[in-house]
Order: sequence, then C-alpha cells, then structure tokens
Amino acid sequence: MLYHIVTYGCQMNVHESEKIAYILEEMGYKPTAKREDADVIVFNTCAIREGAEERVFGNVGALKKLKKARPELIIAVCGCMTQKEETALRFKKKFPFVDVILGTFNLHEIGAYIQKAHSNKVFELWQEGEIDEEKGYNRTSGENAWVNIMQGCNNFCTYCIVPYVRGREKSRKVESILQEVKAIVASGKYKKITLLGQNVNSYGKDLQPQVTFTQLLRQITAVPGDFKVGFMTSHPKDLTDELIMEIAQNDKLLKEIHLPAQSGNNRILKLMNRRYTREHYLSIIEKIKANIPNVKITSDFIVGFPTETEEEFLDTMSLVETVRFDGIFAFMYSPREGTVAAKMEGQVPQEVKNARVNALLALEKKIQKEDKKCQKK
Ligand code: 5AD
Ligand code: SF4
Repeated sequence: MLYHIVTYGCQMNVHESEKIAYILEEMGYKPTAKREDADVIVFNTCAIREGAEERVFGNVGALKKLKKARPELIIAVCGCMTQKEETALRFKKKFPFVDVILGTFNLHEIGAYIQKAHSNKVFELWQEGEIDEEKGYNRTSGENAWVNIMQGCNNFCTYCIVPYVRGREKSRKVESILQEVKAIVASGKYKKITLLGQNVNSYGKDLQPQVTFTQLLRQITAVPGDFKVGFMTSHPKDLTDELIMEIAQNDKLLKEIHLPAQSGNNRILKLMNRRYTREHYLSIIEKIKANIPNVKITSDFIVGFPTETEEEFLDTMSLVETVRFDGIFAFMYSPREGTVAAKMEGQVPQEVKNARVNALLALEKKIQKEDKKCQKK
C-alpha cells in the first residue's frame, strides 16, 4: 500500500502534507516517489494565484488514464483550492474520477475519508471550526522542523484569498506548541525550528489570557538544547519594537525577517488594505537594521494591482532600491474571485504586469550582484 502526495503553494501546505503523510502512515501506507505506483494520490492545493490553480487542474486531469487502468487507485484533492465551494464543485464536475474532495478545515479527517472512498465517493467541505491541536507529522524538511502556531488571517488584504479559505486567526495554545518543540528537540534530528502562521505577529491575541508572539518566542527559546528558531510570515503593521529587540538579543533566534511590503506606493497600499505607509515600512526597516547586525530581510511584492500606474510601480522599484533586500518574491497580481480587488475597475493588462515583474526582478538581481561583490571585498 503506497501513497504519493503532490504539494502546491506555501510552507503551510508543505507542513500540512507532512501531517497527511503521518495520517496515511498510521493507516499502514508507505511513501513512493512514483505516482504510477501509488494506491493513494493526494493533491494538496494552493489558491493564491490563478497559475497555481491551473497547474492543479492540469495535473489532476492527467491522472484520468491512470485511474482508468487501475480503478482501485484513490485520488484525493484537498487544501485551499477545494475549500472554495465553487472550485470544489468544478472539480467534482470536471473530474468525476476523483474519489475524495475536501477543504482545509477538515484536512485532519483525510484518513477516514480515504477509508470511506473504498466504497463511495467523498465530497466534504467543512465550515471553520476549532483549531486542530496537532496529531503528528512525518517531517520531510531535513534539519528544519516546521511548527504551526496559528491558523487563518484577519487582515483581508483586498487581493488575497487566504482569509476566505483559512478562516479567522486562531492561535494554538502555548503549552501544546511547547510540547511539540520539546519533542522536536529531544529527537535530536533538527537544528532549526521554523514557526508558521499567516500573520505570526498577531499570535495569541485570541487566547485567554492573551500572549504576545514575543512571549511565545521567549518560552520556545528557553527550551534547553542546541537549536535555532525562525518564523514566517510577519505583517509590517503588527511588527513590534519588542519583537525587534528580542531578535537582536536572543541568541537562539535567527537573524532573518520576511516582511512582505507588497508595494512601495501609498495609494496602492491603501487600496490593498495593508494598513501601513511606505514611510512606516521604511522606518521599521531602519529600526531592524540599526538593532540587528547582519540581519537578512526578505519581502514579497505584487505588481500590476488594479489601477497601478507606471509612476506608482516606480515607487515599488525605489523601495527595493532603498532597502536592498536579501531576496524578494515578485508576483503579478492575479484576480481571485470573491476578493474585493477582483471587482475593482482598472485591471492592468497582462503585458504590463509582465514588464513590471521583469523590471523588478532585474533590479533585485542587480542589487544581489552588487552586494555579493561588496561582501567579497
Ligand atoms: N495575486 C498575486 N500575488 C498574490 N499574493 C497573495 N495574493 C495574491 C494575488 N491575488 C502574494 C503576496 C503574498 C504572497 C504569499 O503571495 O505577495 O505575500
Ligand atoms: Fe493574505 Fe494579507 Fe492575510 Fe497575508 S496578511 S494572508 S496577504 S490577507
């Protein structure tokens, strides 16, 4: 009995696939790198951009032949794409040979659904419920262990589908996180722990009593052992001075911050509902650089947001030039059905988005080259 998991999207999905692997192995399945040999194939999907969704549709569609040749093969599709009811229904209609369709909220039930699928097709999309306190993981990321600290997002950036497919922010309990961290350290297999959440800076606001992210970091790094701790993703509007000082002073914290800016222009930032300005963003960067020597700062940017002019795009270019990030991800805006920005007038033509993303990536490449040269000297 063999399983094969195909994962799309962010680290959260990578980590959730580790959970799916754990559940399947508890059921007696073993992993295989070859899809053709598998008895169960799981697609853990991503909905963040249209391109990601198209890839999933293409790859699931390509399994039709395999399923025809081996009807006992079970194909399951889960994750952010299928948490959207319209997309799940589209899957059901377009690919009737898929056996299990589920979303993000009921991912931990995948074992039971796969059992059930031996006799019936399963279509189960749940509403948001309590946070699933973790069962177990088959960790696959080498010396790094991912630890999920929270689910969901309350920010509703106008371009983003995440709040719709992951629900509102829900923090795991400190005790439960600490237990997981202690087990990871005790196993002796990991040198690095990366905490995951869509917006880690607002960790603990929903707990009783409230806990700050910095307090959580202090407790995690107080666990005895030789390991480093990193985290993602931070939202600039919630990044506190307290956290910056903690990163500066705490030897166990990695000197790395992923701080998505998304745009360097205030009008666009406002339309995106990011709730900070270019000036505020730059002031945080200054504080980080002043307090944490050799810090590595990375960021995400979206180009071609509805109504973005060439001049406004150049503000993004100049922000990148000013900060000199250690790495950036640049994305072309992709309208997501159900989000506010998808309905905005002034959608930017594809060729303009292409040109802007290329210009931004070329600038980043130039900066990287220059900075590497400086380091060598
Ligand atoms: N179009 C393009 N990029 C997006 N992101 C989120 N939503 C969209 C979208 N609709 C990007 C953001 C985020 C990263 C994970 O994906 O930059 O930080
Ligand atoms: Fe999406 Fe914004 Fe939440 Fe990040 S903070 S997950 S970009 S809504």
